[in-house]
Amino acid sequence: AQRKQIDEVLALFGLAHEQLVGVQHKMRAELEYGLKRKTHPLATVKMLATYVCGMPDGTEKGKFLALDLGGTNFRVLLVKIRSGRKSVRMYNKIFAIPLEIMQGTGEELFDHIVQCIADFLDYMGLKGARLPLGFTFSFPCRQKSIDKGTLIEWTKGFKATDCEGEDVVDMLREAIKRRNEFDLDIVAVVNDTVGTMMTCGYEDPNCEIGLIAGTGSNMCYMEEMRNIELVEGDKGKMCINTEWGGFGDNGCIDDIRTQYDKEVDEGSLNPGKQRYEKMTSGMYLGEIVRQILIDLTKQGLLFRGQISERLRTRGIFETKFLSQIESDRLALLQVRRILQQLGLDSTCEDSIVVKEVCGAVSRRAAQLCGAGLAAVVEKRREDQGLEHLRITVGVDGTLYKLHPHFSRILQETVKELAPQCDVTFMLSEDGSGKGAALITAVAKRL
Ligand code: BG6
Ligand code: GLC
Repeated sequence: AQRKQIDEVLALFGLAHEQLVGVQHKMRAELEYGLKRKTHPLATVKMLATYVCGMPDGTEKGKFLALDLGGTNFRVLLVKIRSGRKSVRMYNKIFAIPLEIMQGTGEELFDHIVQCIADFLDYMGLKGARLPLGFTFSFPCRQKSIDKGTLIEWTKGFKATDCEGEDVVDMLREAIKRRNEFDLDIVAVVNDTVGTMMTCGYEDPNCEIGLIAGTGSNMCYMEEMRNIELVEGDKGKMCINTEWGGFGDNGCIDDIRTQYDKEVDEGSLNPGKQRYEKMTSGMYLGEIVRQILIDLTKQGLLFRGQISERLRTRGIFETKFLSQIESDRLALLQVRRILQQLGLDSTCEDSIVVKEVCGAVSRRAAQLCGAGLAAVVEKRREDQGLEHLRITVGVDGTLYKLHPHFSRILQETVKELAPQCDVTFMLSEDGSGKGAALITAVAKRL
């Protein structure tokens, strides 16, 4: 009887082929709505213009600073690009952003960022230099040009006050002025998906999609200008930051959301928002697992029916723990040890159930992400009138990189749902800071 109850819960996370096709079609419709001048009243996928219109051609050169804010790590980088030989050298430093700063005031956040830049310049012996800077800022921004970006709303774990509706480049400039110690020439603000696509595009010109499966989930791709109604001009292509994390915010995938998804949403910093992201990205998968474990424990199916203080604690299941628990090389005893580390006392049976729960949640995440990606590659194929499309996706993010099964299931799903597309996945090795520097170099050249 216990087994049956557990299976019933796990079954809520199983998606049939038809359901995935349904998600793919809805995503496709949302991609189209978002490109229209008159946005559909229920449109949720923002489809933001980035003003990135081409790939680097190898003639870029120079020394650039880059900032990379919004993923697991905040980095400041110095990127040296040599033309012709396609050689890029990078130096970077990771800085912590304390929770009180992520969720404090905007001024404190940007002062902290500038403090980190100052430390980095000091460390590199570059104190007086005035360098061009590319800012990877991994949140939805409305752009009117490559060096302007108004933050629409915070996502993931950020919630600093007085930033939404403001231009993040202006905020950074003002913080630099307040410090009055150095001057920087802020040339470009880019999303992490765009930086990732650029980094991979430098090696493979066929790379026209950028995907992040990390703390958050998002995708960008090169769209025909003639399809982008909100931007003047019909020639060539422009990169669109889809912000697909907001897919489903109009309720269109509520049929596959479970009570656990709703609990995670309600306990988050942005209830009702980023519903697709909350089913597919690292920041939330562990929370879904935790909600299921709480429910199973309440039903007396786990942890001897005792809900510990630990299990009540938000955020205990980070991506790295999920990845470890699901590793096939790990014996159950080791799974128990991980749970122990998390402060959860488990029996052998408990550890089996926990592993199954993690598997169900991450599998669904990879499939949903695959359905989204299938929608965009099919769109690109049809728009170009091709029987077959070959395309490369540049990918980054801890979920994709660390999880033992996520990338495989994602790729299998894309194959299944977009059989006429031959999709190559290329891991971005250097993060999106390099891409931001390349974009800065292109913008400087023009
Ligand atoms: C990094 C990129 O490698 O991956 C960041 O440089 C990006 O720009 C990040 O935000 C995404 O992954 P995660 O898991 O750190 O959110
Ligand atoms: C969130 C952000 C988006 C970013 C993604 C991955 O979805 O809104 O801009 O690309 O996370 O970091």
